[in-house]
Amino acid sequence: MNVFEAVNMRRSYRGKFKDVAVPREDLVKIMEAGLAAPSGCNKQTTSLIAIDDPEVLAKLKGAINPPVAQTAPAAICVLTKRINAYRDKCFAVQDYSAAIENMLLAIVELGYSSCWYEGHITDDDDIASVMAKILGVPDDYDLVCFLPVGIAEEEARMPVKKSFEERAWFNVFPKD
Ligand SMILES: Cc1cc2nc3c(=O)[nH]c(=O)nc-3n(C[C@H](O)[C@H](O)[C@H](O)COP(=O)(O)O)c2cc1C
Repeated sequence: MNVFEAVNMRRSYRGKFKDVAVPREDLVKIMEAGLAAPSGCNKQTTSLIAIDDPEVLAKLKGAINPPVAQTAPAAICVLTKRINAYRDKCFAVQDYSAAIENMLLAIVELGYSSCWYEGHITDDDDIASVMAKILGVPDDYDLVCFLPVGIAEEEARMPVKKSFEERAWFNVFPKD
């Protein structure tokens, strides 16, 4: 698979996963892809915890309400340290977003599926903090995203996307 195929095959998968374990070497490859992402001023503000222990995974899934990814055999939690790159400029969000997209593409390349769960766990009920406690994450890191990893049992739904012409142009912003 080349990078364009992976980019276009990636979908947010919210269905059931097959009961097949994800080998640790695959989780390492996915995390390495995440850590290879660019970061503002190379501050490398993103850290990762892969979860393949069924007991820990069950605790994490139990913290997510309403439940998602309950059948996922593995997951990766994305942590960020909100330090400034220079002066008062913090690029931690951009840093972890780049890392997440790299991981989502690596997940596709390895034949797995995932979904970027951030809104659900960082809403006002702050599920992410409960998950961070379960994983023993220190206070100066925020857990910002949960990525299930596993083999999809169902077809992913194709979302409606705007056309290229509605969102991308050459040389100048188009006039009506
Ligand atoms: C910052 C961010 C937060 C997201 N949070 C959630 C989430 O909490 N729950 C969820 O089901 N999908 C979440 N998604 C996935 C989006 O819903 C999804 O990318 C979008 O609907 C387009 O579908 P696609 O990923 O298949 O292209 C999130 C995506 C991003 C980039």
